[in-house]
Amino acid sequence: MYNPFSLEGKTVLVTGASSGIGRATAIECSKMGATVVITGRNSERLQETFDALEGEGHRRVIADLSGQEGIESLVGQLPPLDGAALCAGIGLTLPVQFSTREKFDRIFNTNFFSPVETTRLLYKKKILKSESSLVFIASIGGIYSFNYGNGIYGTSKAALNSFMQYCAHEFSVRKVRVNSIIPGMVETPLIHRGTISEEQLDRYLAKYPLKRFGHPNDIAWGVIYLLSSASCWVTGTSVVIDGGGESCDPKSE
Ligand SMILES: NC(=O)c1ccc[n+]([C@@H]2O[C@H](COP(=O)([O-])OP(=O)(O)OC[C@H]3O[C@@H](n4cnc5c(N)ncnc54)[C@H](OP(=O)(O)O)[C@@H]3O)[C@@H](O)[C@H]2O)c1
Repeated sequence: MYNPFSLEGKTVLVTGASSGIGRATAIECSKMGATVVITGRNSERLQETFDALEGEGHRRVIADLSGQEGIESLVGQLPPLDGAALCAGIGLTLPVQFSTREKFDRIFNTNFFSPVETTRLLYKKKILKSESSLVFIASIGGIYSFNYGNGIYGTSKAALNSFMQYCAHEFSVRKVRVNSIIPGMVETPLIHRGTISEEQLDRYLAKYPLKRFGHPNDIAWGVIYLLSSASCWVTGTSVVIDGGGESCDPKSE
């Protein structure tokens, strides 16, 4: 059947695959025919994702990507890739007056330096094949200052999104496409770890025109588009998937 969104025959790396958006991305990519290499830190939850994959030939790699050792260990175990979705990330809500260098380092390490170094090695070692596609998961918090105390997280994602554009330019010589997804609030464990209060979440929800936060699959399907040949003329761009939430009403909290 004609399907330009198919991932049949493609091998795709998904980081952050033990939870939330990364898990959904891995599972949905496998349903679209991809062979996936999934990675995360928590072996039990990564195994749950692995067990939910469709098809054969998938692999799982436990790695902490906050440091060089974990990144090199992961990259050293990878086959040639047709695509990668770098979903691993952490959240933090903290007013600027408490945002010390140490806090910035911790969040930037995982949300910025980790995907940056992973990308550098994937490209330098030619693990990303010609005509492959790389997708970063940035955030609407990197565009709008809608969420009080989102400064460290938001700037880490803004930096990642800017890096994406430079990669798209430089990697075009090998026809490697690079894009990002910009999600609004998505129902995953990340938003329920206490750094945003449930009361604050209710206030955010009220301004989402479709009256719900995203489901991880809403993001996964955007990633599939960017990994598939349907997006073969798309590079250096950010796809906002936010249910109209922040982009309709960025200033009100
Ligand atoms: N949920 C939202 O509203 C939202 C909105 C915009 C953007 N995002 C972005 O979407 C991405 C996925 O978030 P999520 O909501 O799905 O969060 P999540 O459910 O908490 O999942 C985060 C994933 O990242 C992995 N991870 C975190 N630190 C890691 C490290 N040092 N090394 C390796 N893996 C690490 C986790 O692995 P382990 O669990 O195995 O440690 C987990 O698989 C993140 O980049 C996040 O910033 C989320």
